[in-house]
Amino acid sequence: MGSFSFYIGALIMFNLAFVGFSSSLNPYFYNKVCPQALPTIKRVVGDAVNQERRMGGSLLRLHFHDCFVNGCDASILLDSTSAFTSEKNALPNNNSARGFDVIDRIKSEVDRVCGRPVVSCADILAVAARDSVVALGGPTWEVRLGRRDSTTASETKANNDIPSPFMDLPALIDSFKKQGLNVKDLVALSGGHTLGFSQCGLFKNRIYNENNIDSNFAHQRRATCPPNGGDSNLAPLDHTPAFFDTKYFKNLVTKKGLLHSDQALFNGGQTDSLVKTYSTNFGAFSKDFASSMIKMGNIKPLTGTRGQIRLDCKKVN
Ligand code: HEM
Ligand SMILES: *[C@@H]1O[C@H](CO)[C@@H](O)[C@H](O)[C@H]1NC(C)=O
Repeated sequence: MGSFSFYIGALIMFNLAFVGFSSSLNPYFYNKVCPQALPTIKRVVGDAVNQERRMGGSLLRLHFHDCFVNGCDASILLDSTSAFTSEKNALPNNNSARGFDVIDRIKSEVDRVCGRPVVSCADILAVAARDSVVALGGPTWEVRLGRRDSTTASETKANNDIPSPFMDLPALIDSFKKQGLNVKDLVALSGGHTLGFSQCGLFKNRIYNENNIDSNFAHQRRATCPPNGGDSNLAPLDHTPAFFDTKYFKNLVTKKGLLHSDQALFNGGQTDSLVKTYSTNFGAFSKDFASSMIKMGNIKPLTGTRGQIRLDCKKVN
């Protein structure tokens, strides 16, 4: 009896250790069931990024906007139904989130090579984000897999839980904290703004009215972002928007952050020193970005028998 209860105890402890360590996601989830899944995602992402470099940033952002709303469950991909309004309509996503057609292409190619729908849309978002970063010169990491797809979405939660570009540092810290992410995760992941573009309407107040901005930079940005109108005109989030590099952080140190929320990370507060470190240390930024991406990817996944594997990422089965 002694050895039997020892055996049971050891078994329970082993399981606890296993669950505790990666929220039950693991990198090998599709190895047996569809070994071609990951190479296929990589190929389609590579094609999309070669066609338009911006798409890499757009795909990275989709995963972020998915994970911050009820966990990484592909809720952002669902179109509106009679039961809920799509997160695509929420303020941070409307006329802004993009890359949905690439995700649909990946899904159909992956289901074809696998012979049946075994790969979730939520995992596709996580892998496509990683492959995008790699395609644009950033670090790689092992994506933990086994997320399942939600059967619902929340426009309200998307409005409330995705951070706004008008936030100051305390609100940004709070927004990440609500997701179980710390100050270091906030700074490292904000480095995602080494990629892609922003619309003029989201940084207009900053370039016309703020003081913690380099005046040459403000003048330069005003040229394509007039005081009235032009709200959807694009400007790069750093001056090398198609390369994953340290320019975003270098810009913050010289008061050339584009968004109010970007410059908030280097404005005399507790994150200044980390921004400075990342601005001159690509290795440190890359390493921290990769581990924070894994952490973000672990937010509240649906696993086991919860949720479903969608047949079409846009709708519930
Ligand atoms: C810290 C809080 C954050 C705020 C307030 C914020 C806000 C924004 C805003 C306002 C835009 C421009 C959207 C538009 O003009 O349509 C944007 C773009 C972008 N964001 Fe963030 N973001 C944050 C964090 C992140 C994180 C954590 C990532 C990824 C790890 C990320 C990746 C991107 C990318 C790649 C783009 C460019 C997308 C494109 O060109 O299509 N952002 N963000
Ligand atoms: C989303 O943008 C469109 C314009 O493209 C607009 O007509 C619509 O009202 C917006 N939706 C929300 C919820 O703001």
